Amino acid sequence: MREMDRARKIGNDVEQASICLARGELVAIPTETVYGLAANAFNQEAVLKIFEAKNRPQFNPLIVHTGSLEKMRPFLLQIPDWAEKLAASHWPGPLTLLLPRNEVIPDLVTAGLPRVAVRIPNHPLTLELLASLDFPLAAPSANPFGYISPTAASHVAEQLGDEVSYILDGGRSTIGIESTIIGADETGEPAVFRLGGLSLESIRNTIGKISVRINPVEEQPQSSGMLKSHYAPKTRLILGQIDVLLPEYGHQDPYLLTYNHIHPGYPVERQIVLSPTSNIREAAYRLFSALRELDSKGSELILAEPVPEKGIGRAINDRLKKAAGKG
Ligand code: TXA
Ligand code: MG
Repeated sequence: MREMDRARKIGNDVEQASICLARGELVAIPTETVYGLAANAFNQEAVLKIFEAKNRPQFNPLIVHTGSLEKMRPFLLQIPDWAEKLAASHWPGPLTLLLPRNEVIPDLVTAGLPRVAVRIPNHPLTLELLASLDFPLAAPSANPFGYISPTAASHVAEQLGDEVSYILDGGRSTIGIESTIIGADETGEPAVFRLGGLSLESIRNTIGKISVRINPVEEQPQSSGMLKSHYAPKTRLILGQIDVLLPEYGHQDPYLLTYNHIHPGYPVERQIVLSPTSNIREAAYRLFSALRELDSKGSELILAEPVPEKGIGRAINDRLKKAAGKG
């Protein structure tokens, strides 16, 4: 980032940060763990900017930050007892909870998953910022794909300075490693899915026993899509050129997922077009709901075509490949 921009873009002006976020822009926020790259979690266009800025070739679900439990309740379906206890003892703090969510949270934020990751960070400036907003903040760590997480405003300026409207400078992150992530396992019992700033001892002191489910590949960015942390359609999906696939599979009455146009000569009601105007960003934020809708049709097969392999299109194709790999 250039010297002049640096002076204008970094500071401790909470109001400035608040204005940028309300406009749907990206703001880097300080937290006690690491700096976050934040956007209005209710605004899909804004959330999309996070993925573009991080230049990550996959969609990863994002942590949603609020300043209070009350502000989370409208988008949570239910908060189990163990979660209430952990929240009461450790929020604000380096704890993230995976909880069932409703439709108020866009699919893009959770990568289509039924649970959302939520956290109240413990940093005075960010708490002041969150109190000033009437929406929560979706924020991953503020590093580009493949880089380590930033623990100072200057790290963000170096790595993502050109991508953000403002960097709220809250000094060094006091903890310096990401939050501990806890959610229910298959049996409904709490389990740790990522080790982080909140120790296992503190957790056990609050709720007693807890199991640890760390997938060793999780922290490797290239492999994180291998986690079950993405929505995958149950219906078989084949990825390829629709005109090539249809002659072979047409007799199975598949549904089609196309990029920008209805495939001529095939029933319109069996097709979903991601973006009729060839807008790759629109395609990105419609992707998860389109997959979900196709999955609910009860058909045996989905034929999908890749989108242009540029910008956020890479993440879309990655998602489609994974959906296809399943079948
Ligand atoms: O300390 C932190 O947690 C920082 C600060 C900014 O809050 N944030 C952070 O975000 O580390 P990120 O995106 O770098 O890591 C979040 C992790 C990812 O591994 C993601 O897969 C997982 O949380 N995650 C988020 N939402 C999820 C969901 N709905 N289900 C499963 N995993 C989820
Ligand atoms: Mg990260």
